[in-house]
Amino acid sequence: MEQLLLCFLLLISCFSHAYCTKEQPYNAIFSFGNSYADTGNYITLVKGVLPYDVFEHLPYGMTYFGQPTGRGCDGRLVVDFIAQNLSLPLVPPYFSKGQDYHKGVNFAVIGSTALSLDYFRQHNITNIPGTDTSISVQLGWFDQFKTSICNTTDSCKDYFRKSLFIFGEFGGNDYTFVLSAGKSISEVKSYVPVVINTTKEAAESLLEQGATTIVLPGNLPTGCIPIMLTLYASTNKSDYDLLGCLKHYNTIGYYHNIKLREAVVQLQLKYPKAKIIYGDYYEPVINFLKNPEKFGFTNGAPLKICCGGGGPYNYNLTATCGQPGVSACSNPSTYINWDGIHLTEAAYRTIATGWLKGPYAHPPILSGFY
Ligand SMILES: *[C@@H]1O[C@H](CO)[C@@H](O)[C@H](O)[C@H]1NC(C)=O
Ligand SMILES: *[C@@H]1O[C@H](CO)[C@@H](O)[C@H](O)[C@H]1NC(C)=O
Ligand SMILES: *[C@@H]1O[C@H](CO)[C@@H](O)[C@H](O)[C@H]1NC(C)=O
Ligand SMILES: *[C@@H]1O[C@H](CO)[C@@H](O)[C@H](O)[C@H]1NC(C)=O
Ligand SMILES: *[C@@H]1O[C@H](CO)[C@@H](O)[C@H](O)[C@H]1NC(C)=O
Ligand SMILES: *[C@@H]1O[C@H](CO)[C@@H](O)[C@H](O)[C@H]1NC(C)=O
Repeated sequence: MEQLLLCFLLLISCFSHAYCTKEQPYNAIFSFGNSYADTGNYITLVKGVLPYDVFEHLPYGMTYFGQPTGRGCDGRLVVDFIAQNLSLPLVPPYFSKGQDYHKGVNFAVIGSTALSLDYFRQHNITNIPGTDTSISVQLGWFDQFKTSICNTTDSCKDYFRKSLFIFGEFGGNDYTFVLSAGKSISEVKSYVPVVINTTKEAAESLLEQGATTIVLPGNLPTGCIPIMLTLYASTNKSDYDLLGCLKHYNTIGYYHNIKLREAVVQLQLKYPKAKIIYGDYYEPVINFLKNPEKFGFTNGAPLKICCGGGGPYNYNLTATCGQPGVSACSNPSTYINWDGIHLTEAAYRTIATGWLKGPYAHPPILSGFY
């Protein structure tokens, strides 16, 4: 009888606990990164600075929002699907003033890098953005923002303990800028350790401030991105793999991801009570290309983009998505890639589900819950 009572009590306490009930696992989402995560910071920052900003124009945003929101996509991004899944509001951009940031805020900016712009200049890499929005800058914004929700070390820790941090992807733009300076693939790879170190140090700073769940997303398969396929097209068939991707360029993302996963393991050892997650963008894109129909990408040419101005991949450097006269396909969900650089909402949805419950995150965000 006593045992039965104990059992009953355990059951009750279990049901009042987030791990057993459908109670919200996280109180807030804090997001950092570049155009794979920006939900509107860039368009606010460049307003009145750039003569024409494609991200402010349809068909960006045509799916779901029906209007441009500053996302580099036809619709929602991975961070949006994760927020909706966790019953949290879409994560508001830090630079959209007047929003309530208690359930999260997004510091990601289109074009952002892991390394500071000074670092690139010191290495004679000059084809870089006008404004530094790199990791250290985004962490600075986070510091400023913090005082609006917590003022003591302990109260911040208490808040962040229940928050989901998504930190990245970072690195993709760093490598793009090094490549565009005419550097070889092996020179590009020599930047991987410093990119990873910078990412790891930043994650560590968030963990020290109280984060207990942090996703570190990896890079995409560099050589499968239509802009890369266009810029670095080769007449030598042996430069391409069976999926039509540029083999040697893929090694950049691949190598970055191996080093990032090593960093995740090191962080996990140092912070055993935290949940440090590798979020995979590489494997899902490869799976989409291998088996497009299985994921609903039925347009018949998996490397071809939905919104672009012609050419073998429909990516045209002088007529890109969002420019006047450039139109989108009528059925974006049947495409993997949206504009030559970014994925479609449909692709992001599948990746987000894979991060939440597997197989595209290690461990999945929801493992241990429900
Ligand atoms: C969240 O994702 C999980 C795993 O994919 C799914 O079972 C659940 O129905 C989703 N919930 C919402 C509200 O989207
Ligand atoms: C950058 O370029 C300057 C001028 O050409 C040269 O003196 C310097 O050594 C270069 N620095 C690096 C890191 O390549
Ligand atoms: C933290 O302190 C600042 C400055 O004193 C104040 O403006 C802010 O409201 C405080 N934040 C919280 C969450 O109490
Ligand atoms: C790693 O980065 C930190 C700052 O982010 C720097 O202090 C440290 O020297 C770097 N270490 C290596 C090995 O690059
Ligand atoms: C194509 O690339 C392969 C492997 O890099 C090389 O061995 C071969 O000579 C190249 N062919 C031509 C025609 O350049
Ligand atoms: C790319 O766009 C330019 C400018 O609109 C156009 O002249 C050119 O024909 C396009 N290229 C292709 C391959 O469609």
